[in-house]
Amino acid sequence: MNIAFAEISLAKPGALAVLVTEGTTLRGVAADLDDKLGGALKRAVKAAGFTGKSGSILEVVGPQGVSASRVLLAGLGKSGEVSAAGLEKAGGELVGRISKANEASLSIILDGISAPKLTAAEAAARVAFGARLRSYRFDKYKTKKKEDGKKTELKSITVMTRAAAARKDYGTLSKVADGMALARDLVNEPPNVLFPGEFARRTRALSKLGVKVEVLGEAAMKKLGMGSLLGVGYGSQHESQLVVMRWMGGKPGEKPVAFVGKGVCFDTGGISLKPGAGMEDMKGDMGGAACVTGLMHTLAARKAKVNAIGVIGLVENMPDGKAQRPGDIVTSMSGQTIEIINTDAEGRLVLADALWYTQSRFKPKFMIDLATLTGAIMIALGKEYAGLFSNDDKLSKQLTEAGEAEGEKVWRMPMGAAYDKMIDSRFADMKNVGGRDGGSITAAQFLQRFVNKLPWAHLDIAGTAMASPQTATNQSWGSGWGVRLLNRLVADHYEK
Ligand code: BES
Ligand code: MN
Ligand code: ZN
Repeated sequence: MNIAFAEISLAKPGALAVLVTEGTTLRGVAADLDDKLGGALKRAVKAAGFTGKSGSILEVVGPQGVSASRVLLAGLGKSGEVSAAGLEKAGGELVGRISKANEASLSIILDGISAPKLTAAEAAARVAFGARLRSYRFDKYKTKKKEDGKKTELKSITVMTRAAAARKDYGTLSKVADGMALARDLVNEPPNVLFPGEFARRTRALSKLGVKVEVLGEAAMKKLGMGSLLGVGYGSQHESQLVVMRWMGGKPGEKPVAFVGKGVCFDTGGISLKPGAGMEDMKGDMGGAACVTGLMHTLAARKAKVNAIGVIGLVENMPDGKAQRPGDIVTSMSGQTIEIINTDAEGRLVLADALWYTQSRFKPKFMIDLATLTGAIMIALGKEYAGLFSNDDKLSKQLTEAGEAEGEKVWRMPMGAAYDKMIDSRFADMKNVGGRDGGSITAAQFLQRFVNKLPWAHLDIAGTAMASPQTATNQSWGSGWGVRLLNRLVADHYEK
């Protein structure tokens, strides 16, 4: 999608939209437009009972008096309460509406809109951001792209504003959208295409942005003693990979921040095979790794002043002849031994070695891991919030606030010694499941056994990374969840 900024003009062809607030729907530019249309907008407002509520749209098709083929009003809600999220939503809703119409271009006018916490330029940039996120498509495997009877596809969006800095503000946001689109693509890709080797290959593209990318294969991981991660991949024909991405945009020598992602490219459950129904969704079990990759893209593309490490463990959990068994005992890089009770609790096994490796090699300020780790987190929180588990109140607060600001919310869950005891094993240092009760918590306790004394947070994104509720700005199966959140965390607290 081509997104541009321009001066305000009522003479545009295609779809022409004006953003309006509740109660003041026909002021300023909207009033001028109504004059040109001979009062058609006023009549339409009345006929449709349009009030300008957030997310609502009024559409007049084929009007007389302008070159536009249709004219729209898009509501932003109450004028004193316009927010970044509301502006994104309006941009998203307009794109949703116009993509279904026979239009090649959409122009959106922002005039006299003031949002309490934003400059006029920031407000316009948010509309463009919302439009861009909504226009994301994953249709590369569709051989017939156009819907029946549709002649034109929406190709360009112009945001019209007096605020000259809008283009620059959108420049930064567009890098966030790029990272989100990359994460969405990775999650949406089918598992026969995106196996560990192919995922690793795609991360190499980040080197063009100045990210140092290193890929460790099974031989290198064996040398490091990563028996926990490697055990998961033994049942697969595809070689496991560990990818290390480094963006050093901060001060030389300053400790980095670190992000670690679960990258199970497909999770059959292994020998503890999952039921067949819905198993296709397990192509998204690399959502944590996708988020870390998208985030590294965004940080590098916007030249963030931070030293950041991204580490992703890429495996495929399959039940072939060499697959690990329930009852196996593996030795992790940390030296701790793990009794495998259920081969379907594989994400924590991958993260155990990835976390240990990250903290030993990089001594980061903090580590945040993201993983589609447990079905139980959806039982606890649904798909609105990701589960947050942490040993650090400050990091938890920063994540909670960043999540509220970006609309990617996290809810802190309890941890403690009583939960930790549940993963003690009769035969090894620990076992990889703690029973049905508190399943997401015992999974987090497991991870914590691989974290030394440094601030750490684990985000269980099983409910938010894929098949999450569709919104005005996300209609993709893979949501790209977490890129916005963590980019915001870095921007607000860890740059400069
Ligand atoms: N990848 C799954 C968790 C998952 C389930 C993510 C549904 C997204 C949607 C994970 O590897 C898993 O299988 N977890 C098990 C753990 C159990 C065996 C202790 C689960 O949640 O059932
Ligand atoms: Mn599993
Ligand atoms: Zn899994």
